[in-house]
Amino acid sequence: MCGIIGYIGPKSLVPVLVEGLKKLEYRGYDSAGVAVVDGGAVSIRRVLGKIAVLEESLRADPLRGSYGLGHTRWATHGRPSETNAHPHIDCTGELVVVHNGIIENYLDLKKRLREEGHRFRTETDTEVIAHLIEKHFRGDLGAAVRTAAAELEGAFAVAAIASRDPRKIVVAKNGPPAVVGLGDGETIVSSDINPILVHTSKVVFLEDGEMAVIDGNGAKFTDFRGIPLDKKVETIGWNPLMIEKRGFKHFMLKEIFEQPEVIRDTLMGRVSLDAGEVLLDEIGLTEGVLAKVRRAVVIACGTSYHAGLAGQIFLETLAKIPASVEYASEFRYRDFLMDKETLVVVISQSGETADTLAALRASKPRCAAVVAVTNAVSSSIAREAHGVLYTHAGPEIGVAATKTFTAQMTALALLALDLGQKRGALEAKDVLGILEEMQRLPHKVERVLSRAKDVEDLAARFVSFSHFLYLGRWVSFPAALEGALKLKEISYIHAEAYAGGEMKHGPIALIDEKMPTLVVVPKDRVYEKMLSNIAEIKARAGYILAVAGEADAEIARHVDVVLPVPEVHPLLSPFLTVVPLQLFAYDIAAKRGADVDQPRNLAKSVTVE
Ligand code: G6P
Repeated sequence: MCGIIGYIGPKSLVPVLVEGLKKLEYRGYDSAGVAVVDGGAVSIRRVLGKIAVLEESLRADPLRGSYGLGHTRWATHGRPSETNAHPHIDCTGELVVVHNGIIENYLDLKKRLREEGHRFRTETDTEVIAHLIEKHFRGDLGAAVRTAAAELEGAFAVAAIASRDPRKIVVAKNGPPAVVGLGDGETIVSSDINPILVHTSKVVFLEDGEMAVIDGNGAKFTDFRGIPLDKKVETIGWNPLMIEKRGFKHFMLKEIFEQPEVIRDTLMGRVSLDAGEVLLDEIGLTEGVLAKVRRAVVIACGTSYHAGLAGQIFLETLAKIPASVEYASEFRYRDFLMDKETLVVVISQSGETADTLAALRASKPRCAAVVAVTNAVSSSIAREAHGVLYTHAGPEIGVAATKTFTAQMTALALLALDLGQKRGALEAKDVLGILEEMQRLPHKVERVLSRAKDVEDLAARFVSFSHFLYLGRWVSFPAALEGALKLKEISYIHAEAYAGGEMKHGPIALIDEKMPTLVVVPKDRVYEKMLSNIAEIKARAGYILAVAGEADAEIARHVDVVLPVPEVHPLLSPFLTVVPLQLFAYDIAAKRGADVDQPRNLAKSVTVE
C-alpha cells in the first residue's frame, strides 16, 4: 500500500514531510524515508522501522532542503530493509522516486535497463521507475515521467524529483490515489488528504492516467499524452483536529467512542420523521433505475464486507429484494451473472481498495447501477460509481476499522429503506418505525459505551487466552465476524466466528475450558436457537460470554458473563452488539501491549491486489 508525500514551499521541509508521513503511516509502516534537495544536492535518509525511527534519525543527524519527498512502506517486492526502503534513486543519485503500487512488468524492464547499463541496488519493483525516468530524461522531468509512465504496467502513484530540473515535483497516477494540495505559495502531494489539511483545504484529486508537475506556485495537470487538463479544485471540510487523539490512548479507542456521533452524522439530513421518509436524492439515481431493480449484489473486503452482510439482511427485509454479498477479491475472478436489473453496492471505507475498485469496474457495464458506500470524498470508488452514499464518519486512523463499520451499516439501512419505499415494499408506518429507532441509536450506543469499564475489567481476565470462538445468527452473525476480526487483527489472538447453527458442523470439536466463546444473543427471531447452541457449549465445559439485551432476565442463567446492551428493533441490534466486542478486542490488545493502531502486517488502505 505505502504512503507517498512531497512538499515544495516556504515551511521547514523535513518536519512537514515527517508529520505528513505520520498521518500516512496507517498505509504501511515497515520502513520509511525522505529525500530532500538543498541547492543542487540530493540527500536521502532511509530507515527500517516506523516513522518514529526515521524521525529519531533525522533528529540525531538533520537534513535540510527546500523541497523533497517522503515515503512510508508496506513491502510487496523485496523484504522490509533499509536498502529496499524508498525513496529510490537512478544511477546518478540525482533523480529520486517514491511509489505506491506494484509494477507488474518490472522484471522485463529491469532486464532491459540492466542490459542498457543501469545499475540496480535494491530488490524492489520501484527502482525500475527511477532508472526508466533516467533513461528518458533530457532536462525536463515532466516529459521523462510521462514517457516512463507509458511503459509501466501495473498500479502506481509515483512522485519524482531531479536536481537537474530543480524545484519541481512530478506526480503520476494509475491506480493508487494521489492528491495535490494547493496552498498559498506552497504545494503538497500526498496519498490522501490528511497530511494536506494542515496546510490547505484546496485539493485536486488525480484520476488514472493523469499527472501533475508541481512547483511552489501550484500545479500543471496533464494526461499521460501531455494534453493539458483543467482540473476541478475541491474544498475539503474536514477539520485537521479530527485527526488527533483528543486524550484517548489510541485512535482506535477514540474512534469506538465516536460512534454515536458518526451514526448521527450519517443520518443527518437524510431522514424526515415528519414525512416518515428517507431522503437519498444525493445518490443521484433516478427513481426509474431504482424501481426496476430486482436484485442486489453487495461487494466489499474486510470490515466493509461484514457491514455488507448486515446490509444484505437490511435489503432482504426492508427492500424485499434478493441480495448476495461477495468478497471483491473473489468476485472479480468469477463469471458472476448479473443483468440490467441488478443493483451493485460497493462498500469501501477508503474508496481505494484495489479489489473493490476492480469489482466495481467489472460490474459497471453489466448492471442497472453501481452505488458506492464510502467514507472518502472523491475517492476512486466514489468517482467511478454511478451514485455515492457517503458515510460521515470523519477520518479513521486506527488500522482496525470501528466507527466506519457502524457508519456503513447506517448508510446501508437507509439505502434499504429508500429502496423499500420506492419499490412500495414497505408500509409508511414500518419505515417510520425503523427511522425512529435509528434516530435513537446514538443515545443507545452511548449507553453501551458508558459501560466500557466493565468490558475492560472483563478483558483483563482473558488477556492470556490463545483462542476464542464467536457465534451469532442472522443479524448477529456479521457482528460476531466483526468482533473476531477485531481481536485477531490487533491482539494476534486466534479468533474465529461462526454462524451459530454451523457450530455443530466443526467448531464444536474445539470447545473446551481453554477456548471461551463470545455469543451475540439479542432477543430476536433466533434467540431460542442460540440458547440451544449455548447449551451445547456448556455441555462441553465451554466458558461463555454473552452480549445480550439488558432486559433479558433469562440469559444470565445460561452463560458465565453477560455484557448488556439496550433493547432495540431486532434488525438494528448489530449497531449495539458490536460495540462491546470492539471494546473487548481493544482492551485485550492494549493490555497485551500490542500496537493497537498499527497492527503488524496490516495496512488501512489496500491499494494492491
Ligand atoms: C484493510 C483494512 C480493513 C478494511 C479493509 C477494506 O484490510 O485493514 O480495516 O476493512 O482493508 O478496506 P476498505 O477501505 O475498502 O473498506
